Amino acid sequence: MRILVVGGGGREHALCWKLAQGKDVEKIYCGPGNAGIANVAENVAIQVDDLDALAEFAESNGVDLTVVGPEVPLCSGIADLFMSRGLRVFGPTQAAAMLEGSKKFSKEFMRRNNIPTAEAASFADEEAARKYVSAKIAGNPGVVVKADGLAAGKGVVVATSEREALDAVSECFSGAFGDAGANVLVEELLIGEEASILALTDGNTIIPLASSQDHKRALDGDLGPNTGGMGAYSPAPVVTDELMSEINEKVLNPFLQGVNNEGMDYRGIIYAGIMVTNAGPKVLEFNVRFGDPETQAVLARLDGDLADIMLKTSEKRLSEVTLEWSAEPAVCVVMAAGGYPGAYEKGKVISGIDDAERTGAVVFHAGTKNDGGKIVTSGGRVLGITTKGRDIREAAANAYAAVEKISWDGAQYRGDIAHRAIGI
Ligand code: AMP
Ligand code: GLY
Repeated sequence: MRILVVGGGGREHALCWKLAQGKDVEKIYCGPGNAGIANVAENVAIQVDDLDALAEFAESNGVDLTVVGPEVPLCSGIADLFMSRGLRVFGPTQAAAMLEGSKKFSKEFMRRNNIPTAEAASFADEEAARKYVSAKIAGNPGVVVKADGLAAGKGVVVATSEREALDAVSECFSGAFGDAGANVLVEELLIGEEASILALTDGNTIIPLASSQDHKRALDGDLGPNTGGMGAYSPAPVVTDELMSEINEKVLNPFLQGVNNEGMDYRGIIYAGIMVTNAGPKVLEFNVRFGDPETQAVLARLDGDLADIMLKTSEKRLSEVTLEWSAEPAVCVVMAAGGYPGAYEKGKVISGIDDAERTGAVVFHAGTKNDGGKIVTSGGRVLGITTKGRDIREAAANAYAAVEKISWDGAQYRGDIAHRAIGI
């Protein structure tokens, strides 16, 4: 099997690494890839939004399956384009990708299909949004202000004061997020612990992957600004068997039903960001792709043949698949460039990756490139150091032992990844 992976972050390195272990996998290409992906796949100089070039490449190189990592090409219709050319693709169509591409659409989908979520109202008019915010914040712990469209994780503000909430509304309407801010959602603030539930679906069958938890804030103790994710672990103890049954019944099954009722062609991953509240699980958001860095921790525990699983998903044969997981928990610690998620420098030489790998850790690359034989930083999130252990405490200790071998000028990471599971 010849596979093309679209993307070039830590998630795509983890995907390429796991796909490369497949028994029928002959060749993996990755566009655009990164310096670590080059060890398991051939990097191709095509960007994720150049859909025509990706389709041309897949056709002329006999690619049997294309796996799409990020949301942007999915929201631009990469799956539709590939299917129209008779190419197999793992990822939902453009209409289904709206579940991530528009928070308003996603909220309405949840309402239509009785999926529990935060109450929300959507506004195209700034004055109306401000009035609503002022009325809602009185007597409530806060509100959440969300730009409707894709804003690379930056369009959400959890506001606990009226001032913060009104500033967030102004920011959206100021054009800071481009078209993504033309509509604004104001949501009820949910209280609880978050978990990420990723599930495979081909439209007929839905199979959850092992649970995981991300760490969105930049600093220890869940402080500082939101980031793309500073670390993850799997499984998430907050997702007990009982809670997972409830998530199946209230979220995943109604999701599948909704997809069918609304005529969506969905073959890929659905990622439900869940808040475990006192009133049960509620969906914070749907993403139509694998999470980053959840994927690094989750795939480290997958015992099956990912290429075969994805091929079957794309051929609507997911009912033939049974997933098996390592009993050992996994932890992924993200190392980021100094300054991230704000402005940061690139081109810093990274040392110690080989030493870290000799401890048994898997070092997934995100923002790295090969500069004349040296691995240098080229993004905000740079590496995801991933290890397993007999228990979560050991997995985290193993990850940090490997992290300590790696350095570059300005490197930063959180020291408390998995703290909720370990109980610190
Ligand atoms: P989203 O992109 O919609 O998942 O929002 C990003 C992050 O904002 C989530 O992972 C939560 O930490 C937080 N968040 C979003 N919506 C809510 C909500 N209704 N209540 C509390 N926190 C939220
Ligand atoms: N880790 C959060 C995300 O992938 O959206």
